[in-house]
Amino acid sequence: MSITILAIESSCDDTSAAILNDGYLLSNIMAGQDVHKKYGGVIPELASRAHQHNILPVVEAALCEAGVSMADIDVIAYTRGPGLLGSLIVGSSFAKGLSVALGVPLVDVNHLQGHLLSPFISQPGEERPKPTFPYLSMLVSGGHTQIIKVTDPLNYTVLGKTIDDAAGEAFDKCAKLMGLGYPGGPVVDRLAKEGNPLKFKFAKPVVKGLDFSFSGLKTSLLYFLRDRVKESPGFIYENLNDICASFQHTVVEILVSKLIKASRETGINEITLSGGVSANSLLRKRVEEAGMENGWKTYLPEFGYTTDNAAMIGIAAHYRYSAGYRAEHNLSPVSRIKDF
Ligand code: KG4
Ligand code: ZN
Repeated sequence: MSITILAIESSCDDTSAAILNDGYLLSNIMAGQDVHKKYGGVIPELASRAHQHNILPVVEAALCEAGVSMADIDVIAYTRGPGLLGSLIVGSSFAKGLSVALGVPLVDVNHLQGHLLSPFISQPGEERPKPTFPYLSMLVSGGHTQIIKVTDPLNYTVLGKTIDDAAGEAFDKCAKLMGLGYPGGPVVDRLAKEGNPLKFKFAKPVVKGLDFSFSGLKTSLLYFLRDRVKESPGFIYENLNDICASFQHTVVEILVSKLIKASRETGINEITLSGGVSANSLLRKRVEEAGMENGWKTYLPEFGYTTDNAAMIGIAAHYRYSAGYRAEHNLSPVSRIKDF
């Protein structure tokens, strides 16, 4: 029997809905939230209000683009966490209400599992190379930086993680120090293209094992900018491309060196990236290069599936539903990963 899933993602500041049929993606609609731009970061209260405003039109657009109606939906999937609680409550309440109204089962999904399984998203008739298990995924987003061993679609082990800021958070905070907009990652990526990555040196943290740290890098950039601006008030403006390129180079070197270490320690050569920072052009290039040097098979995600999206929640739900997972209606959303 053919199964059609409506998936809903609302963990942070993107409202998204996707339709999948038998694991193939029919539509993936996203609504961003410009309201946070002027604050330089996500304001949780504004995010949940924007989700409430966006969720129904986004779901309707997903149905329309997929050419299916509410009556065709067999399963409703939603992100249970981790994320901002107020944002998660909007998506989970909507999903629960719709599941009762349509009389169809609910499947809860861990947002991180969605990112990890994003390489398996494909449209009908599209045959993209997919990683074989076990593979390593470096999950780099605004909220997480982890190297994860994915044993099968439903089992994974965190091998290393950040002990302070996430990589995307470092991009965002450093962009803010330079007076650039939010989110900072795409702006830094764009400006870095015209800059010299070796012009300025920033200290790399020494962190044991496969863990990461990015807060020292942010402090190092803060003092560097403060001292240079004291000498020359126009320093940031005059050197913006080189500062962005040098900063980005440092972040990417930290990430790629740990990925190489993880591959060597585990003997796993199937490598994927996921999360918003996996859209970064230098990171993608360096991972491809490291792959050629180390004999990896690398699977870089399509840009549309790097940042938060419901397609990844739908593919994770496809595997969970097939394995028999169902969510009770009294299951609460959770903001932190340790609750899983
Ligand atoms: O996965 P995501 O949409 O949300 C979370 O789950 O956190 O990731 C958002 C993060 C932001 O910090 C943003 O600055 C970063 O991804 N990002 C990038 C790029 N595009 C998005 N960072 C570096 N380079 C990019 N091109
Ligand atoms: Zn995410």
